[in-house]
Amino acid sequence: MNLPFLPYGRQNISQDDIDSVIRVLKSDYLTQGPITGEFEKEASLKVSCKYVVSVNSGTSALHIACLALDLNPGDILWTTPITFVASANCARYCGAEIDFVDIDPKTGLMSTDELEKKLKEAEKQDQLPKIVIPVHLAGTSCDMQTIYKLSKEYGFSIIEDASHAIGGFYKEYPVGSCKFSNITVFSLHPVKIITSAEGGLATTNDSLLAKKLRLLSSHGIVKNKNDFINKKANSWFYEQQLLGFNYRMTDVLAALGLSQLKRLDYFISERQSIFKSYKNIFSDLPLYFLEVPDNIKSSHHLAIIRLNNKNQEYHRKVFDGMRSKNIGVQLHYTPVHLQPYYKEYGFRNGLFPKAEQYSSNAMSLPIFPGLSDNELKRIYNDLSSLL
Ligand SMILES: Cc1ncc(COP(=O)(O)O)c(C=O)c1O
Repeated sequence: MNLPFLPYGRQNISQDDIDSVIRVLKSDYLTQGPITGEFEKEASLKVSCKYVVSVNSGTSALHIACLALDLNPGDILWTTPITFVASANCARYCGAEIDFVDIDPKTGLMSTDELEKKLKEAEKQDQLPKIVIPVHLAGTSCDMQTIYKLSKEYGFSIIEDASHAIGGFYKEYPVGSCKFSNITVFSLHPVKIITSAEGGLATTNDSLLAKKLRLLSSHGIVKNKNDFINKKANSWFYEQQLLGFNYRMTDVLAALGLSQLKRLDYFISERQSIFKSYKNIFSDLPLYFLEVPDNIKSSHHLAIIRLNNKNQEYHRKVFDGMRSKNIGVQLHYTPVHLQPYYKEYGFRNGLFPKAEQYSSNAMSLPIFPGLSDNELKRIYNDLSSLL
């Protein structure tokens, strides 16, 4: 008989979380009330950033971040192939072109050497990107200082896709502080570090960008008369100043996010301790974990291993074997350029060899607060029987 299904990630909901949501359900405002503002304020304190705009998903946050940075048809955006498709799709929503930068196989993150090489080439061909989106895979920050330095040299903006990384640090800077970027984006999907069911946050220190993000998240509508273009407008009037969307986070979900945020430090320490146990217990198996550089505190959203054996059949066998034992291993990610949608734009196998190699022997093991020692042993036993 199979043991219960163990997903790779799972939300952790407390009675306080439930009570917070119920309080909002019983209040006057289910949306556009005071709780979203409170959540944004607490999040800005937590990540040391001036402005936070809450939205209904990480994907919406990426979309409006691109728009706020004026990404237009004909512009180019670069990201990594080893990410969720949303990091690339946001360029396509704006009609911009997408290209990718290969990874550093040790960390799985965008390689700054590859980035520099590609920028040099792109400059010669007048094909420089307007925006680069480094993705903090598994909760481990990219080398932001180097990317920032390159952004000054080559004139691109930076959106950090920190969907996996709330609670992490790059050197002494909290991820989200935008010390080395224009905008940082978080996802609050239930498999992430903290959740609001669906939800996202965009953070920035730039007041103009913050204003634009806010407008874009709510139809492009301004309600404060002081900000009106038409200074003679009546007091009940509102003004649409650009083409925005309804990407707002509701107060019901902000209440969950706010309550979860209070336990962020606990969630991170749990994840750190599980990751440490993984590295200890699994050290005798023919595999290795993605590296976390010394100057980075990862939020350990994912526990990604790479199998020593690079044979694709072997990878498939281990994957299927784990799934048949009810362990929800995952691949984060199939390289985005090999998705059928992106292949239509001419991307093909062989363009980003390190990313392609990575996807043929990587595997995410379960990690979430509450994963027990017994469950860890179960994962060990199941995996070692397949290797
Ligand atoms: C790296 C990355 N970027 C963007 C997203 C999109 O976030 P959401 O699901 O909140 O729209 C995700 C979510 O899976 C992600 O993992």
